[in-house]
Amino acid sequence: MSALKILGFAGSLRRASFNRALLRAAQDQAPEGMVIEIFDLSVVPLYNGDVEAEGDPDGVVAFKQAIRDADGVLMATPEYNHGVPGVMKNAVDWASRPPQSAPLAHKPVGIIGASPGMTGSARGQSQLRQAFEFTNSYCMPQPELLVFRAHEKFDPEGRLIDETTGAYLRRYLEAFMEWTHRLRV
Ligand code: FNR
Repeated sequence: MSALKILGFAGSLRRASFNRALLRAAQDQAPEGMVIEIFDLSVVPLYNGDVEAEGDPDGVVAFKQAIRDADGVLMATPEYNHGVPGVMKNAVDWASRPPQSAPLAHKPVGIIGASPGMTGSARGQSQLRQAFEFTNSYCMPQPELLVFRAHEKFDPEGRLIDETTGAYLRRYLEAFMEWTHRLRV
């Protein structure tokens, strides 16, 4: 059986983003049978229906195709002001179009996230989850992965150094592999 292809992206454009670092850790710790590719959302412009009507910009074409080519999507979201950062929501909005044949429709989705605060992006994750009711995506309900006090879990180079978080991450990825096997189209 060929390996599951998972597309990962982080809702932060920051070079030293903890959420990008978490995705890189997921890449390193992916179970056998799962390969995670990371897409950089900096090429996705702000959604504009007029631009869309003229044809998706190159970055959007690449992003939507990468989702279509993947068996599942893994999103690492920060939390901004108790919600989903615009970078992540904007990417989801593009990938929800057109509604009749959206790249996100019927796609297995996993949400993870990291924050230096004590709630580890919990409210951002909950809000992001709501979007998948509209897109008809299969968002995994459990387990959750909330990396709190993220500045203590990664070294200055962005490597995950906390063993407990690593164990939760592996458990999450194994569950997401099973979820994706069950639900991929
Ligand atoms: C934040 N941050 C933050 N953290 C949190 O746990 N809850 C929150 O509501 C917010 N709100 C918030 C708003 C704005 C505008 C910024 C810039 C930041 C802190 C945030 O979690 C922190 O900057 C993370 O490091 C962002 O994720 P990345 O970039 O490290 O992936």
